[in-house]
Amino acid sequence: MANKNQTLGEFIIENQTEFKYSSGELSRLINSIRLAAKVVNHEVNKAGLVDILGAAGDTNIQGEDQQKLDVYANDVFIKTLTNREIVCGIASEEEDDFITIIGRNKKNDNKYVVLMDPLDGSSNIDVNVSVGTIFSIYRRITPEGTPVTLEDFLQPGNKQVAAGYIVYGTSTMIVYSTGHGVNGFTLNPAIGTYYLSHPNMQFPLDGNIYSVNEGNYVHFPQGVKDYIKYCQQEEGDRPYTSRYIGSLVSDFHRNMIKGGIYMYPNTSKDPKGKLRLLYECNPMAYLAEQAGGLASDGHMRILDITPTELHQRVPFYCGSKNMVEKAEHFMKNA
Ligand code: AHG
Ligand code: MN
Ligand code: MN
Ligand code: MN
Repeated sequence: MANKNQTLGEFIIENQTEFKYSSGELSRLINSIRLAAKVVNHEVNKAGLVDILGAAGDTNIQGEDQQKLDVYANDVFIKTLTNREIVCGIASEEEDDFITIIGRNKKNDNKYVVLMDPLDGSSNIDVNVSVGTIFSIYRRITPEGTPVTLEDFLQPGNKQVAAGYIVYGTSTMIVYSTGHGVNGFTLNPAIGTYYLSHPNMQFPLDGNIYSVNEGNYVHFPQGVKDYIKYCQQEEGDRPYTSRYIGSLVSDFHRNMIKGGIYMYPNTSKDPKGKLRLLYECNPMAYLAEQAGGLASDGHMRILDITPTELHQRVPFYCGSKNMVEKAEHFMKNA
């Protein structure tokens, strides 16, 4: 089991028997993600020195202005994942449609689809604040030997076989799960190796941090407003502390370590919420549950939602179990 100061490579080999499918394939898949993460990390680290800051000039399918680093990270992850013979399809926040990978032998016999948010927290790039990458992995459900279809990507989050994120922060970390808890690895940039720094990460059952963009308060549903008021009341361990970075990865990472709740509600402006079910909410929900936390759309478990479209958005409430349950209680009784 988890052993501090192990390298990520050693950890993958030591724990591969716990993975219910072919362990070598998953190892290669995680390996390609850690490699792409190193390349992106290198670029993020020198972002102020090279011409990689600012807008790329295009708008993505989400209606957002793409940043140069959004495009760069998207390209690096797609190229790295395509070059290994493991992935049969990729869906990305930055791509209109999913990408089909037939494999070098043209047999369509790769087994995994990867869904990703290549660069999370785009609005923080230009101001030297932490950004991240989020990934979600499923086995394909259509038969091998045929090209992947939309169905392979629209699986509920409870079918994920692995998920994780990279946080390009004060140090760079990869945090992931294959269904046996959550482990975090920190990159030693001098030697380019990730070490197990955070074995068996656990969401504290309770916390005192709430993370939400309160600038949208007037547009929130009544139940969310009531819960925020509850967080701010003076009673017991309240008022809670408000912390919001604006990069889901970083906000989640802090809350998992310290205890807290992250909320991105539906608003009167965005009736379905802002965050993407497939690239952001499902992988984070999987990690949250693996770490003993919860993730909800306000009424039901995120991982049980059956997606109907690739870029689907959902309201998102995620974090320490007792806090998410309390928020749900306010929403039910509003
Ligand atoms: P992305 O940069 O991948 O488009 O994601 C942005 C998301 C998420 O990272 C963050 O928590 C949230 O949007 C911030 O939104 P607001 O600026 O509306 O608070
Ligand atoms: Mn975006
Ligand atoms: Mn994002
Ligand atoms: Mn993004």
